[in-house]
Amino acid sequence: MVSFSSLASFCLALASHVSATILQNGQVKETNYPDTSIDPAAQSFKTYPANATEISYKGRWDSKYVSWWSAPGISFGYTGQTVAISFGNLTDNGVLVGYRIGGLDWMFTNITSGATHLLVSPDAPGSNETAPINPTTFELRVTNWAYGVQIEAVHVAEGEKLIKIPDFGRRIEVIGDSLAAGMYTTYEGLSSWAYGLGAGLGNTEYTVTAYPGICAADQDCWGNPRGQAHQWFYTSDTSYRASVIHGDNPEPWDFENHPAADIVVINIGTNDNNEANNVTTEAYIDGLTKIIQGVHSKWPKAQVVVCSLWLGFHQSGNSFSPEWTDGWVNEIYDLVQWFNSKDYLKNPTIWDGVTNTTSTTGKKSDPFVHYFNTTGILQHNDIGPQWHPTDVGAIKVASHLQQFIRIKFGWDLYATGPEIFHDTLYWNDEQSY
Ligand SMILES: *[C@@H]1O[C@H](CO)[C@@H](O)[C@H](O)[C@H]1NC(C)=O
Ligand SMILES: *[C@@H]1O[C@H](CO)[C@@H](O)[C@H](O)[C@H]1NC(C)=O
Ligand SMILES: *[C@@H]1O[C@H](CO)[C@@H](O)[C@H](O)[C@H]1NC(C)=O
Ligand SMILES: *[C@@H]1O[C@H](CO)[C@@H](O)[C@H](O)[C@H]1NC(C)=O
Ligand SMILES: *[C@@H]1O[C@H](CO)[C@@H](O)[C@H](O)[C@H]1NC(C)=O
Ligand SMILES: *[C@@H]1O[C@H](CO)[C@@H](O)[C@H](O)[C@H]1NC(C)=O
Ligand SMILES: *[C@@H]1O[C@H](CO)[C@@H](O)[C@H](O)[C@H]1NC(C)=O
Repeated sequence: MVSFSSLASFCLALASHVSATILQNGQVKETNYPDTSIDPAAQSFKTYPANATEISYKGRWDSKYVSWWSAPGISFGYTGQTVAISFGNLTDNGVLVGYRIGGLDWMFTNITSGATHLLVSPDAPGSNETAPINPTTFELRVTNWAYGVQIEAVHVAEGEKLIKIPDFGRRIEVIGDSLAAGMYTTYEGLSSWAYGLGAGLGNTEYTVTAYPGICAADQDCWGNPRGQAHQWFYTSDTSYRASVIHGDNPEPWDFENHPAADIVVINIGTNDNNEANNVTTEAYIDGLTKIIQGVHSKWPKAQVVVCSLWLGFHQSGNSFSPEWTDGWVNEIYDLVQWFNSKDYLKNPTIWDGVTNTTSTTGKKSDPFVHYFNTTGILQHNDIGPQWHPTDVGAIKVASHLQQFIRIKFGWDLYATGPEIFHDTLYWNDEQSY
């Protein structure tokens, strides 16, 4: 019953140019974002190189300061009213980024490869405000997973400076596929439930290691050469861009020099479950097992939340039914139970996707794997025609996960106002009609 052609369409997206006409609810979406590029030679800036300690990199960035996976970003504090960024030539030309001052609304602009963009000026909304967030912070996020930016330098006005903003004290990572990456939502990664979860918790560092079409099992799925049981251990994703920039030598993620996540949410398997990819149940469960064992190996204290899978709905008589009910529901639940068994916990097996090695920790572990039941969260109109959550669907998944995490792990919700999801202000101007 599932239309494979729609699921396969991400392959086309990989090949297409960054600039394309987008239909949103059947209407042409306006993408005439302001052109922020400037001639850097005509300015007098104080300039910081990409490796300046004042610049915090969020999500996965490689040694050349190139961004990977979904919704990676940078942030820093600054003085004055000017922020410009020079982007390196490994930037995808035309890539859309969201950026903002403090917790104000996201603004958007297309980045030109090798150009300098003026993103904050005295006329930028909020530019004259110094409270409540002080020092004033600047944040930028890449919206699309397949495209990226390369940071070359950050500039402020002459006589002004960048200020290092310490990381928040808690950290979450989402491991997934297109569902977590934000495919088909309004601002892609910046409208994804994974981003919404991390940003919506507030005062939380978040990384979204999700890529459309990728499987848990380490095999080719929809053109992604490797599965997450392998790729999660690497800085770069499975994009064509990664094959161009890193070839056969991707950089393993430097787990030693990046802090551990406290909570890892895993939502992966719809691509494994698609018969076009020929993944057996055994291979899928083996892949998911390795991802969990990989997380436990790199981050022994992390709590892991495994989501049950969902797809979409079809009309069934006078209502709607799930398109698909065989999403390895029992197998995933059984795997979570197995991870919680005394037998496993007395000497956990761990996995390293770079060296391909399975070993044991040699010490007892407390239970760390939890089951998040997604059944009943999404209804038929929360899934768009291309089998992915709509913006509303993404917000529902993020909201339920936030409450699950609050109740289960005692994480308070710290965000008390900043914009999380952009362009979701649906409202009416009439009080009776
Ligand atoms: C800007 O980005 C949007 C979203 O990717 C794209 O549709 C549009 O064509 C881009 N515009 C330019 C001028 O590159
Ligand atoms: C940044 O890179 C330059 C050039 O390689 C080097 O001289 C400098 O020490 C680096 N700065 C930091 C903070 O690592
Ligand atoms: C890209 O930038 C680097 C560093 O500035 C430079 O060495 C290289 O020649 C540039 N490559 C292209 C194709 O412009
Ligand atoms: C900030 O103040 C300056 C000087 O008064 C003014 O020119 C500018 O428009 C103000 N910016 C905003 C966003 O209101
Ligand atoms: C899946 O397996 C079938 C039968 O063995 C084969 O014909 C097909 O090419 C395979 N598809 C992929 C994507 O490997
Ligand atoms: C790990 O296994 C993969 C797939 O079998 C293989 O391509 C890779 O070379 C192996 N790597 C190491 C370090 O053994
Ligand atoms: C998941 O939720 C559905 C709907 O409430 C329920 O029928 C099912 O038993 C739940 N699964 C588990 C493993 O608790």
